[in-house]
Amino acid sequence: MIALEPGLKKRPEYINVRVRRQDGPGMEPYWELHKIKYEPELNVITVLQRIAQQAKTVDGNVVAPIAWDCGCLEEVCGSCTMLINGRVRQSCSALVDRLLADNADEIVLEPMSKFPVIRDLMVDRQRLFRSLQRVKAWVPVDSYFNLGAGERILRDTQEQNYPLSQCMSCGCCLDACPQFNKIELTQNDGESDEAFEKRKLESFDEGFVGAHAISQAMLFNNHPTGKALAGERLEALMGPGGVAACGNAQNCVSVCPKEIPLTTSIARAGRATTIQAVKNWFDK
Ligand code: SF4
Ligand code: SF4
Ligand code: FES
Repeated sequence: MIALEPGLKKRPEYINVRVRRQDGPGMEPYWELHKIKYEPELNVITVLQRIAQQAKTVDGNVVAPIAWDCGCLEEVCGSCTMLINGRVRQSCSALVDRLLADNADEIVLEPMSKFPVIRDLMVDRQRLFRSLQRVKAWVPVDSYFNLGAGERILRDTQEQNYPLSQCMSCGCCLDACPQFNKIELTQNDGESDEAFEKRKLESFDEGFVGAHAISQAMLFNNHPTGKALAGERLEALMGPGGVAACGNAQNCVSVCPKEIPLTTSIARAGRATTIQAVKNWFDK
């Protein structure tokens, strides 16, 4: 017999699930109520699968299955992120018994609030990946020949870098950040796909880059090969929407599922960009 989750007085017969749905980009959202039979040890992904099997709301209306994203099912890919009872988190690691212990009446599922909805709980996280491009969050390679072992990484550096390397680009830190505002553009009549894409990227590049990208810039600037692009990363962080746009509200660090020390990265980036600005001034 599986033990009862602390806080859950008794196992309910049914679980009420309220879902904020949207049929397509830019369309009006609406709420739908579903009721599924309780089973122990469900996660939110299984709840969505049970709802898809039923394909009926609580009022008996036949509805299309709810759309959502997922990949790894073990809190590694970040793609299943959504708002669960108002909190941004991964649906694969959101355990239903724990959610019911906090609120036995219902589970509320909504798409992330800072990214355009594609359909239902699926959002377009292109801006998140664009931010990583803005800060060149990678180790540059200048050939594919075997160049032998890379430079040895000191233990202190490894310990500083490892937590930052766990970022899974889930977007929780962006959804919770008061400085990261939603950007949702629509393609104009007669505008080509290329022109729309260009306009969208320009608009992303004016917005706040976000805690994840600042932290990844610090990770790669602290890597023996990655630091070849350190100056370019700092220049990106000194530009519009860079580290100065952070209001230090610290929401990011409190929602990061990987407990990445984001505010430490932001403080490091602040110091590094100040030094870079002074260096630029003397180099004039
Ligand atoms: S500390 Fe900066 S990045 Fe983090 S939530 Fe606050 S404003 Fe956003
Ligand atoms: S820093 Fe944390 S919250 Fe932000 S994208 Fe990476 S894993 Fe997600
Ligand atoms: S499915 Fe990959 S993090 Fe949830």
